[in-house]
Amino acid sequence: MDNPADSPKSLTESNPFLPDPDLLETLHVSDYQTIYDESIRDPEQFWGKIAEDFRWSRKWDRVLDWNPKTYEARWFSGSLSNITTNMLDRHIDEGLSNKVALIAVADDGSERVYTYGRIMDETNRLCHSFAEMGLKKGDRVTIFLPPTPEQVISMIACARSGLVHTVVFSGFSAGALKSRMEDSEPRLLITADCAYRRGKRIALLDTAREAKKAITSLEKTIVIRRENPDLELETGEIPFDSLLKKHASSGFFKAVDCTTDDPLFILYTSGTTGKPKGIVHTHPGYMVGTFLTTRWVFNIHNDDVFFCVADPGWITGHSYIVYGPLLNGATVLLAEGSPDYPDPGRWWHLVEKYRVTVFYSTPTAIRLQMRLGKQWPEKYDLSSLRLLGSVGEPINPEAWLWFREVTGGRLPIMDTWWQTETGMHMITPLPGVPLVPGSATRPFPGVVADVVNRQGESVAPGEAGFVIVRQPWPSMFRTVYGDPERYRKYWEEIPGVYFSGDSAKRDHHGLFHMIGRVDDVIKVAGHRLGTAEVESALVSHPCVSEAAVIGKPDELKGEVIKAFVILRKDAERTPDLELRIRQHVREELGAIAMPDEIEITEWLPRTRSGKIMRRVLKARELGLPEGDTSTLED
Ligand code: WTA
Repeated sequence: MDNPADSPKSLTESNPFLPDPDLLETLHVSDYQTIYDESIRDPEQFWGKIAEDFRWSRKWDRVLDWNPKTYEARWFSGSLSNITTNMLDRHIDEGLSNKVALIAVADDGSERVYTYGRIMDETNRLCHSFAEMGLKKGDRVTIFLPPTPEQVISMIACARSGLVHTVVFSGFSAGALKSRMEDSEPRLLITADCAYRRGKRIALLDTAREAKKAITSLEKTIVIRRENPDLELETGEIPFDSLLKKHASSGFFKAVDCTTDDPLFILYTSGTTGKPKGIVHTHPGYMVGTFLTTRWVFNIHNDDVFFCVADPGWITGHSYIVYGPLLNGATVLLAEGSPDYPDPGRWWHLVEKYRVTVFYSTPTAIRLQMRLGKQWPEKYDLSSLRLLGSVGEPINPEAWLWFREVTGGRLPIMDTWWQTETGMHMITPLPGVPLVPGSATRPFPGVVADVVNRQGESVAPGEAGFVIVRQPWPSMFRTVYGDPERYRKYWEEIPGVYFSGDSAKRDHHGLFHMIGRVDDVIKVAGHRLGTAEVESALVSHPCVSEAAVIGKPDELKGEVIKAFVILRKDAERTPDLELRIRQHVREELGAIAMPDEIEITEWLPRTRSGKIMRRVLKARELGLPEGDTSTLED
């Protein structure tokens, strides 16, 4: 096979990109197939062997305690551990105290550098503060912060104290923050006076104050004062800096031992109903899964500088900014702000300045860079890069090829498919395997994924089907917070297997090609949104009586939201009505959920039982066949 880098048109699944010989010498996994086959033959042995290298307060009795009736997977049952012992204590004892763990670059370009020692120190101080506040193992803490070191340290301090963090993306509105707090009932909220984006100040504390009014479980709020160190706070609000000062010499805080059942965090994500679901992950399994995927997929070594453009407010940031990289003792770059501010070279500039080796980005961001032009990456020295990654939505081959070309034309791209629920990469290349643009290739070792029909049977090559997973994997979610029924639904759609909600095809070589969601979830610029959530925001506008939302293909963002609305009889149809409705959604949910387009209509297609058929709306919008409409009312 020739390397077809010069002739992308000839690129087919039987003519893939082969790895660079230099890369092969550095790999943790040199023979994917052998390792994969071994891992599947005895998954417990495979994962158990990886787990041997961690620090445990008590080792497990069983690697996997699987209940096929409740679909409960208790990984490393009987064990006691804390994920932070393996992120901090272990590395520090091994002499990494002065190694840089985190480089945080703010929106204005200012930089703060944290060594492993400093993270440990500030984490300990915060843990002492939590204990002093009377917080107990299992209590929930909501973290509503921009991507900053305080956000990362707050997460780690919760984990170390056995508290359950629920990070809410700082771009969410008061309404979205409130509904997440209503569900998780936190005793503590950690927030900041403001966030910054494109040089603009975003009043985070106002949003937090608005949201917390109705949260009766909340006892205290810790506030990071970024802008004004003397900002006066209200009762119940405590400045973050005063806590760090107070516990400057409180010393070491021993990590709280956690069992396989103790939640590490809850992270809210969208599903098919209007209510976001709290995905629960636990300590030991999540630890082992995120550690290994970070290590093998990104081929992490001691000298790596890892730059993931996500926000720790999403699962990608949880697993591949905070937990996975720090478990590996890597150096992480965390950037606040946007890729095109102060100019479109921002990320390339960061790669050059910090000698980034692994750059994990998203298809939308790559397409945006394509639009901004090659001259931006060309301005910078990107020679430190040795591996690229993509996540969040299907990557089109053009974007894949462009990403590879502007970074030197030789780097492997890991197109990683996974979900908030899976916690870790599930279908992804490992560096060293042949790559086909637009394919996430094959399952990670230990993961038994397939593409199937409604009956759960594998479909033929080239045929589209549902992406499922046949066996438990370590960092799988443990439940949906407060809603075990909703958890079981994932396993009952096709009985006994995990139903991801995605569709894909496998080609004749067995490579996966992801297509998209088959449920009512939309991916806008990689952000996961539920149609029902957006619809309920729409109908809360005084002029709107009914609404239906679809995802519409978009060249830049993958999908954008189009909303069809029926107005109330008494609604006044002013020229700016569409705009006002769009802005209303922004206020209700946040900017990422704002529809691109509003169409005012008199009628929506429904089933005879009254359910809106979004599928029919979408087909009409795109000029596609409408499929089976036998249930459509007249
Ligand atoms: C989509 C993000 C194609 C998919 C980590 C999945 C992808 C949803 C890819 C989960 C990829 C994620 N190729 N589609 N490489 N990665 N997706 O929970 O539809 O925010 O179900 O987790 O993103 O979104 P979530």
